[in-house]
Parts: sequence; C-alpha cells; structure tokens
Amino acid sequence: MKILHSVAEARRARADLTGAVGFVPTMGALHQGHAELMKVAVDACGSVMVSIFVNPTQFGPAEDFARYPRTLEADLDLCRAVGVEAVWVPAVEDIYPAGAQTVVEVEDLGNRFEGESRPGHFRGVATVVSKLFHVTKPHKAFFGEKDLQQLFVIKRMVEDLLFDIEIVGVPTVREESGLALSSRNAYLQPEQRLKAKQIYESLQAVREAHRNGCRTASLLEEKFRSRLGSLLEAKVERFDLFSPHLSHRYQGEERVDAGYCAVVVRYGGVRLLDNISLCC
Ligand code: PAF
Repeated sequence: MKILHSVAEARRARADLTGAVGFVPTMGALHQGHAELMKVAVDACGSVMVSIFVNPTQFGPAEDFARYPRTLEADLDLCRAVGVEAVWVPAVEDIYPAGAQTVVEVEDLGNRFEGESRPGHFRGVATVVSKLFHVTKPHKAFFGEKDLQQLFVIKRMVEDLLFDIEIVGVPTVREESGLALSSRNAYLQPEQRLKAKQIYESLQAVREAHRNGCRTASLLEEKFRSRLGSLLEAKVERFDLFSPHLSHRYQGEERVDAGYCAVVVRYGGVRLLDNISLCC
C-alpha cells in the first residue's frame, strides 16, 4: 500500500491507477464504520484511494480540532487490511497553500439545519472534498449515511460543479448496543458509551410511532424527547424531520409521510449525530 504526502505524489499515484477508482475521504481515527466504507469501495472499484486529513476549516473556533483523535499507524493498518491501494496523508499547507482564497459553498443546503448550528462547517467540508476530488479524480466516492446532511451537501456540490463522480452513501455501522460508530465516541467514558445507545433506541421509537400512524411532526419530536428523557444530562441540540431530499424540515402540525429523523445530542460533552429513515 502506497503512503502519499504531497499533492504531486498523490497525483502521480492516481495517474498510475487504471480501471475504476474509488475514493474514501476521512479525517482518520478510523473505526469499523470507515472499514465498511472502504470495503464497499474495494468491492465496487478496481482500486481505492483513501485520504486522512483533519480538515481545520470545517471546525468552528470553539470545536475540537486540536484534540480530534489522531491515530495514523492504526489507521494505516486498517487500510492495509481492507486492501486499499494508496493512502494520502496531506499536510495543511498541501491542501491550503499560503494565500489560498477560494472556497466552495453549497449556498442553501450548506447553511440550513446543521449548517445553522455550525456556521461555515459545510463550506469547509465542500471546499476540502472538492480539492481532494481534483487530485484523486475518482469514479466513485463513498460517504457514511450517519452524516446525512454532509452526504446531501456533497451530492449537491458534485451536481452543481459538474464533477463526473458517483457519490455512494453507505449505511451507518453501529456498536453492538446500537450507538452509531463515530471517531468522537472515543471521548465518552465506557459507561456513557453504553448508555448512549438510548439515542438510537429513541430514534427507533420515532420510527415505530411513525409506522403506527403518528404523522404529526410535533408528536414525533415529543416521542423522541420523552424516550430519550431517561438519558440524564443529554441535551438535544438538534431534532430535524427532513423530507426525502432534505429540501424541507417538517415542524409543528405538519404531516410527515416519508423522509428522515436526524438528531444531534450532546452527551458527556460529546456531540453525537444519528438518523433514521421514515417510510410511508
Ligand atoms: O466525514 C468526514 O470525515 C469529513 O467531513 C470529510 C468528508 C473527510 C471531509 O473532511
């Protein structure tokens, strides 16, 4: 497996690849959720490139950029085990050369919903992903469905900027308890990590209520909040009921037929995201 650093090295390695090329962008601290993304990519494409880059521009000033877990050696072992062809580990100066001024903004979707809670976050994501795409030139790129709005932002960007890349969403991988895998789960104490399963259980309760005919947005929200209520010290930062393409957020007395229930819960000082699809 090749380990690449500079943009020039990554471009050369890409030029050597023939056939369908898959790409999995990551910020490292890889876990089984990333392993699944890489496996799906390896199954779908002749060769797979992975990037490991903790992207400073997608973190707000009060967020965890400095303490974000960095586990490069273990990450490389996982990539090797899955059969990845090349891992690109750029430095900040490679991605953001001195004087860089250009950003990619998905204007509407990138600034709504979670974009309201994290101003500039999706601008940072869209900018870095477009740079990574320009260098790795993949045929397909793979993103987890756990970061639901990110997946839709990237799809929008690819369509708007005419990237010839298929964006593949990969279902969320969960711990045995049901908690969605995330690099940030590492911040939780073992007992908190177990209790945090209630987030997914509460989402399942929403889906169950929806299946049983409860279609009013406010009642579905109430279901989530009351089910989660027993998780002491958990704070619901976002509760969103989205239409299937995230073009609309249902509220109040609006009727929810199909879409997603997406939440951000702060628990044990950690911001945990999860979502579940709602079918009619
Ligand atoms: O999902 C992530 O890990 C990051 O947001 C991504 C897509 C690698 C961009 O930095």
